[in-house]
Amino acid sequence: MKKIISRSNSTRVFGKEYALSYDYFYQDKDYEKECDFIESIFKKFSGNVKTILDLGSGTGGHALILAKRGYYVMGVDRSKEMLEIAKSKAKKENLSIEFIHGNITDIDLHQKFDAIISMFAVISYQTTNSALAGGCKVASKHLVSDGLFLFDCWNGSAVLTEKPTVRVKKVELKDNKKIIRFTDPILNTMNHTVETRFKIWKIENDHLIDETNESHFMRFFFPQEIRYFLEIAGFSEVEFCPFLELEKTLTEHDWNMAVIARR
Ligand SMILES: C[S@@+](CC[C@H](N)C(=O)[O-])C[C@H]1O[C@@H](n2cnc3c(N)ncnc32)[C@H](O)[C@@H]1O
Repeated sequence: MKKIISRSNSTRVFGKEYALSYDYFYQDKDYEKECDFIESIFKKFSGNVKTILDLGSGTGGHALILAKRGYYVMGVDRSKEMLEIAKSKAKKENLSIEFIHGNITDIDLHQKFDAIISMFAVISYQTTNSALAGGCKVASKHLVSDGLFLFDCWNGSAVLTEKPTVRVKKVELKDNKKIIRFTDPILNTMNHTVETRFKIWKIENDHLIDETNESHFMRFFFPQEIRYFLEIAGFSEVEFCPFLELEKTLTEHDWNMAVIARR
């Protein structure tokens, strides 16, 4: 049997190997449907969104689709590797989206947008109160008055009710290659965090050729604390619903909650 040829324990999150596997692991994530949801919120709460800032834009899953639908979109992410993938996808599709390297907790772009989105638990990566406060302040500063801030994050009531579990995801690639991701979570009920330990195996012809380990600390939030942080940052109205279900009421069984705030 061949030896493992590469092994990395990343101290960063969304490093090179994780970023390169990201779109494979989320190839079933329905970004078109999520953008329909985003647009339904624009329609219900604003009706006049033309410009969008995507905080934590990752590999551009939402940014590209929204740009294709006619919006002016700018993305910000702190992972250079995720940004590179987003940029090359946009170039390939001839879309002019500006992807900026920066931290969503303190960036100043010196411009305002009609709406800000931060999708797929980006806000749950802000595990300290100061990071969350910074993210809300950044969103507020970059919005026109009456602008909308929309994000999804982990709902504390559901995390404590359902509890995170060990998961394994396998993706078959061409040329007899596959990638397997093991997710091993550690719940910290006092810190409101889950240390999500990922191990990614790249396998070629049944041989392990690469192993990457990343630990992602994710925070779960309770609606009342989110409301408080948003109000402090200058938002006036705040609403919650289960992610992708605008007309439903959030319960302790909805792991992903959507938060809609108006400045
Ligand atoms: C789960 S991915 C989501 C990416 C994208 N929004 C999507 O839906 O596919 C989380 C992204 O948030 C970014 N991120 C997390 N915290 C950040 C911060 N403080 N500043 C900038 N980017 C951040 C990560 O680098 C990563 O690309």
